[in-house]
Amino acid sequence: MDRFIIDGGRRLRGSVRVSGSKNAALPILIATLLTDEPCRVDNVPTRLRDIKTTVRLLESLGKKVAVKGSSVRVASGGSLKTQAPYDLVKQMRASVLAAGPLLARFGLVRVPIPGGCAIGLRPIDIHLKAFAALGAREVADGGDIILSAPSLLKAGRVRLDFPSVGATENAMMAAAATPGTSVIENAAREPEIADLGRFLERLGARVSGLGSSRVRVRGASALKGCRHIVIPDRIEAGTFLLAGAATGGEIDLKGAHADDLSAVILKLRAAGAEIKPYTGGIRLVMRRRPKAVSVTTLPYPGFPTDLQAPWMSLMCLARGASRVRETVFENRFLHAAELARMGAQIRARGNEARVAGVERLSGAWVMASDIRAGAALVVAALAAGGRTVVQRVYHIDRGYERLEAKLRRLGARVTRTNA
Ligand code: EPZ
Repeated sequence: MDRFIIDGGRRLRGSVRVSGSKNAALPILIATLLTDEPCRVDNVPTRLRDIKTTVRLLESLGKKVAVKGSSVRVASGGSLKTQAPYDLVKQMRASVLAAGPLLARFGLVRVPIPGGCAIGLRPIDIHLKAFAALGAREVADGGDIILSAPSLLKAGRVRLDFPSVGATENAMMAAAATPGTSVIENAAREPEIADLGRFLERLGARVSGLGSSRVRVRGASALKGCRHIVIPDRIEAGTFLLAGAATGGEIDLKGAHADDLSAVILKLRAAGAEIKPYTGGIRLVMRRRPKAVSVTTLPYPGFPTDLQAPWMSLMCLARGASRVRETVFENRFLHAAELARMGAQIRARGNEARVAGVERLSGAWVMASDIRAGAALVVAALAAGGRTVVQRVYHIDRGYERLEAKLRRLGARVTRTNA
């Protein structure tokens, strides 16, 4: 398994380009199941493991997929299957997003129940209730759920108990291939949802209310092919901002959208970072030790749960004590124990962690447990004195494209070893 060897204590300086958004590209690529016509999706972070898994998922369902650089072309490869293979679903829970398109088009889909992961049980009950509101019946069969709608889905009103990103995306895709107007109440408002909505419009659906908690989708039974360019990855951008702040650096993130990161920028400014958004990117300068600033994660536009772990790394070095509350996932503090191995002072209890900032962290052997916990360890290692070895880098490779190359461009001493 690969490891990162990081010799920390160097200020990050320079510019780096943000890749396309993993969490927008995944649903958009899966949404190509809604049409038999060819689609071309650009600015896809094709080096990411989850994108490679999504390509394999589309091929296993009957699509022909060609990847060239950051461009992905999807074309029909004959009739589509209506079962997502378990070995892909267990690798990537976002495979459950194949249910919406297949159920809407064929009135039948067999979906393996995705297992949990390090950060939580990750149930799909909200997805299933959304499909039921559109007329689907569900039967559990082994580790699968069989969803059926013999006379196909009917446009209707979907009310989500929680603004689940995945359930919102599944409902939108199902509605896009269902004639009539469906309404999704308490929809998630993430920028990735809006990007999917714009893709569905290009396929021929009519979508309104994007970015709000009420999304209307007027679907059609025959959707056409299209071309789309994926938005930049706000979580990658936010991770780099936090790495720049933690090392007292001066960085320029080309392609980043500041509007998608307003909650994070607000907190970073409160911690003492100078942040200058400009057309086409974001600049950050950090001239002093960060101030302690507490955060609570919330669905968008609140502080993103995916940046909670890297934020905690920054707070480990802050002047003073801060509190980090995680309200989206039930078990997202696994990075705290690893940060403590580097000298961080953290007391995690339930969904709240109290962080007492220290002057310096020290390099150590640490282990990534999920994408963002791994990112947090990299941020801490870049700031720490001495050498850190980050193990199980495959977690990080799921969400960050060529991370070590990008960090080296900013002057970091990072190498990947295949131990
Ligand atoms: C998406 O996951 C992202 N993944 C996650 O990013 C992100 O952390 C999450 O949204 C929240 O922003 C992708 O977009 C591929 P949810 P998703 O449904 O859709 C509970 C990363 O690091 N829930 O909004 O799975 C769930 O357990 C990943 O890139 C139910 O209870 O998130 C969680 O506690 C990690 N029942 C909360 O809702 C359901 O049916 C939020 O989950 C669905 C969700």
